[in-house]
Amino acid sequence: MSPIKIFDTTLRDGEQSPGVNLNKPEKLEIAKQLERLGVDRMEAGFPASSQGDFEAVKAIAETITETSVTGLARTNKKDIDTAWEALKYAEEPRLHLFLATSPIHMTYKLKKTPEQVVENAVEMVGYAREKFPQVEFSAEDASRSDWPFLAHIIEQVINAGATVVNLPDTVGYTTPAEYGEMFRYLRETVPNIEQVELSCHCHNDLGLAVANSISAVENGATQVEGTINGIGERAGNASLEEVAVALRVRSDYYPYSTNLKLDETKQTSDLIAKLTGMYVQANKAVIGRNAFQHEAGIHQDGVLKNKQTYEIITPEMVGVKANALFLGKHSGRHAFKDRVSELGIELSEEKLSEAFKMFKELTDHKREVTDDDLYTILMEIQTET
Ligand code: KIV
Ligand code: ZN
Repeated sequence: MSPIKIFDTTLRDGEQSPGVNLNKPEKLEIAKQLERLGVDRMEAGFPASSQGDFEAVKAIAETITETSVTGLARTNKKDIDTAWEALKYAEEPRLHLFLATSPIHMTYKLKKTPEQVVENAVEMVGYAREKFPQVEFSAEDASRSDWPFLAHIIEQVINAGATVVNLPDTVGYTTPAEYGEMFRYLRETVPNIEQVELSCHCHNDLGLAVANSISAVENGATQVEGTINGIGERAGNASLEEVAVALRVRSDYYPYSTNLKLDETKQTSDLIAKLTGMYVQANKAVIGRNAFQHEAGIHQDGVLKNKQTYEIITPEMVGVKANALFLGKHSGRHAFKDRVSELGIELSEEKLSEAFKMFKELTDHKREVTDDDLYTILMEIQTET
């Protein structure tokens, strides 16, 4: 299995979700949980963006020992110096420098020629390496950049000392085949590419961030960037738990492994949802409330006979306590009987039929039948005699 590094940016790109604002203790609490989850790298923030973020990144860098801590910086000396002040006591200080390389960003946002962009990138990567042992260079909007230009700037920043090259799909525009092809092209074209780690960073505007990330891995990326619960700018970033679980569940197909302790997933997801106020949609892959619930009678019956009939991820794998069968109007007698015995109640076949009939009547006006409802039905049945 080839190892894939997980770079978590929940505390930086994730925090860029509209309406999210984490304070220092909250960021520190999330950082500790990310360390327990086993992420290889965590982007704690953007130190030059505010005094609050500087303090938070510094506190995280001074606390976290098992994960390499990084901070974001633009390609100017002030940002790099500020990031160094925040990160210099980290176990392995790491800098994440970014500069846009697409025609639209260079022309309208940076107002720089491609030559000026290369010059600025090379100068600042070299400057950053005077302090930081690890410097990642991100070619912002790489997926809308001209490939030969990308190859040129990558070759130059590697010569200047970059240790990781990241190719973001900043606006979530690419598709799996195209993104994979871009990685393959650059690996075949840039002569010194073997000297660095290649990284992918995908946004989810077209709902393709996880698929694009996996395609990048298949084409040579050895680091995946993303966030827990997929939070982030606009439609969010690649959801790291989805990438890691896909690689684990499909290890029959993908020869890649991550260091994530997947049974910490639920705990991490819950903490981030609580502190950001961004609750996870019920049907979200891997971690949504419904991800392990089966409602249709035929499905419930199958799962009770053999979980693998309808379940490709075990709840235990991602730290979800029990697999709950949703009791509603589609539930069958088998699932109902199972829940009744889970509640520790033994019923004769006759009583069970009676209780099941009452349960079905209840589902006509109640979407989900809870344990409390079941107790009420069962008490009625017991007291009838
Ligand atoms: O999406 C993006 O391009 C980014 C960069 C700062 C790496 O988040
Ligand atoms: Zn991003």
